[in-house]
Amino acid sequence: MSTQHSRTRAAILLEGVRRTHPGAGQPTLDGLDLRVDDGEFVALTGESGSGKSTIIGLCSGRQQADAGNIRILGRDITRIGANRRAELRRRVATIFQEYELLPDRTIGENIAFTLEINGIPGEERRRRVDEALELVGLPSRREALPEQLSGGEQQRVAVARAVALRPSIILADEPTGNLDEENGELIFDLLSTLNQAGTTVLVTSHDVNLVTRLGLRTLRIHDGRVRTYRRHQAGR
Ligand SMILES: Nc1ncnc2c1ncn2[C@@H]1O[C@H](COP(=O)(O)OP(=O)(O)O)[C@@H](O)[C@H]1O
Ligand SMILES: [Mg+2]
Repeated sequence: MSTQHSRTRAAILLEGVRRTHPGAGQPTLDGLDLRVDDGEFVALTGESGSGKSTIIGLCSGRQQADAGNIRILGRDITRIGANRRAELRRRVATIFQEYELLPDRTIGENIAFTLEINGIPGEERRRRVDEALELVGLPSRREALPEQLSGGEQQRVAVARAVALRPSIILADEPTGNLDEENGELIFDLLSTLNQAGTTVLVTSHDVNLVTRLGLRTLRIHDGRVRTYRRHQAGR
């Protein structure tokens, strides 16, 4: 195989990044370098408070670095303005531990709402909602309210909502933190399916079993930096 022509493009590139939270004396991240190639599926691990969510916040444009550089899909977002943040949101979808579904809207409306605020027209919205619910195995729950679904199902809706945007990158911050093992595996399998279809995935997780099962490249965050790189062996 020749690598001569195509040095794989970085989907996510952080160089020398420092992030100090407002009011905090010490930076959470300092001198952080992190690269995720286009089409990769990478896991971030590290103790609680090590800065995993901060990294997700920086990659999604929700937080800003106080030093260093951040490039997402080749574009500099180190100090991103409001306009560019909206554009970034369409190309980089985030899934959180707490699902964050709108409680008074149906499952279908939850997905459609995200599409609407991102400028997708009505007909296309309906098509994408159908497709996304099909993908996560919940086409029959379209008219249900979030509270009528189990935690695992709600997280699958959050995945569907992300997928419907057809993002280039999915960031998932402890997406299985509230789920039992079986549902956790289901979410990781869905992320893996999306990755195989070409989406770059960066997931934070303290669950080594999930990371090991899929043989993901794993970066451990400690003292504000990436400390170890390893590829967990698939299978056991
Ligand atoms: N909004 C915030 N304001 C002040 N400190 C914060 C904020 N968010 C996170 N931190 C601090 O930054 C550190 C890293 O937090 P976080 O990125 O959430 O870690 P992790 O996701 O690995 O548990 C912690 O010490 C946390 O208290
Ligand atoms: Mg976190």
